Amino acid sequence: MKANPGGTVTGEAIIGRKKEIADIWTRLEKRSVVLTAERRVGKTCVLRKMYEIPRNGWLPLFCWVESDRHPIDCVGKIFSEANRLEARSDKGIWLGRIRSAYRTLAGAEISGWKLPQLRTDWKSLLNALFSDISENTGNRILIVIDEFPMMISNIIKDHGGPLGMEFLDALREIRQKYEPSDQIRFLMSGSIGLHLILQQLKSDHEYKGNPVNDMSQKVLSGMTEEDVKLMCVKYLAEEGIIRNDQAEFDRRMFEATDGLPLYIQYVCERFQDSKRREVSPDDIDAEIRAMMDDREIQWFNNAAERIETYYASLQADHRASIILKMLSHEESFVSEGVIIDDVRSQMTVEYDDEVLSTLELLLDDNYIVRDTSTGERRYRFRYEIMRKWWRINKG
Ligand SMILES: Nc1ncnc2c1ncn2[C@@H]1O[C@H](COP(=O)(O)OP(=O)(O)OP(=O)(O)O)[C@@H](O)[C@H]1O
Ligand SMILES: [Mg+2]
Repeated sequence: MKANPGGTVTGEAIIGRKKEIADIWTRLEKRSVVLTAERRVGKTCVLRKMYEIPRNGWLPLFCWVESDRHPIDCVGKIFSEANRLEARSDKGIWLGRIRSAYRTLAGAEISGWKLPQLRTDWKSLLNALFSDISENTGNRILIVIDEFPMMISNIIKDHGGPLGMEFLDALREIRQKYEPSDQIRFLMSGSIGLHLILQQLKSDHEYKGNPVNDMSQKVLSGMTEEDVKLMCVKYLAEEGIIRNDQAEFDRRMFEATDGLPLYIQYVCERFQDSKRREVSPDDIDAEIRAMMDDREIQWFNNAAERIETYYASLQADHRASIILKMLSHEESFVSEGVIIDDVRSQMTVEYDDEVLSTLELLLDDNYIVRDTSTGERRYRFRYEIMRKWWRINKG
């Protein structure tokens, strides 16, 4: 298989993730799920694979809402996916309520979602849609929404915080209404963390809601060793490239990339493009070193930019930069006290809590991980490859 790092991957090209996907389906048995991860870890690939190969008894709808800027746009997306399923089902019309609500408001059959009266009445249309879906489908419906936080952020930008909050709360009500009977579940993900948007709603609009605390939070990280091996087979063995010292090669690939599929693809693409017939474990380290200087590679610029944008809007950017810079020079865990002292030596810190809340943000955002096994709280970068990049570029 040709490596295609950063490209749109579908079908067979989405490799592995069996264990993570099984875990998500198991969680969905009980409640809806929010899937989070650092950028480019493979969230969309996981959503797509679950949509393409659903577990028995489930009927997934896939809604990509990145460009949606009003709740009605999202209602429209879910409707058109449900409409597509209705057309394929043998149960006849199951979207009667929303069609009739639409007709009452617009005086016509469903043709678009831009009319002002539809916007005003988005909530009744949302409720009609979910009544229809829950009543008329035998299977369990999984509403997969990718780029959910981006949509909420767009709604807030265009229409203000209150509409964003109302929409979050309306979706929570829908879950509370339909989850007990196991008919409907949501699986939401996105490239920006919802917690950042909630933080903003809390500080700017005194938002008191807990819109996703009824959902299970699944953090996606690098691939398992087994999946890394599978990728090596697909991109190298199947392309006629021999891995010298195969077991060690696969282990090194796992360690050097933290199992992140995008970087495995980059390394394998370089092996494929260089037309090598044989590669050794040391070649992996050499490629990664060379890649660090390659500006075409989608490194962790997004993660760095997010500190300058979202973190700045929360006045946490300076603290976050200092913390990450310091951790980028440390291979192992650093204790909380040392981190607080380091921040304090570079800027005014009135209360330790200011540093602690920034650490919480960085944890929620998957930049870092925490260890408490020694009895004290200690932190390090979640990914070694990201630490190395940070040290070179931001350290
Ligand atoms: N299971 C996989 N099999 C093959 N390639 C993968 C897999 N998962 C991720 N990739 C590679 O990593 C890239 C990023 O994956 P994906 O778009 O799913 O990440 P994401 O977490 O949704 O990113 P973002 O946060 O930017 O939305 C893909 O373009 C692909 O090259
Ligand atoms: Mg994505």
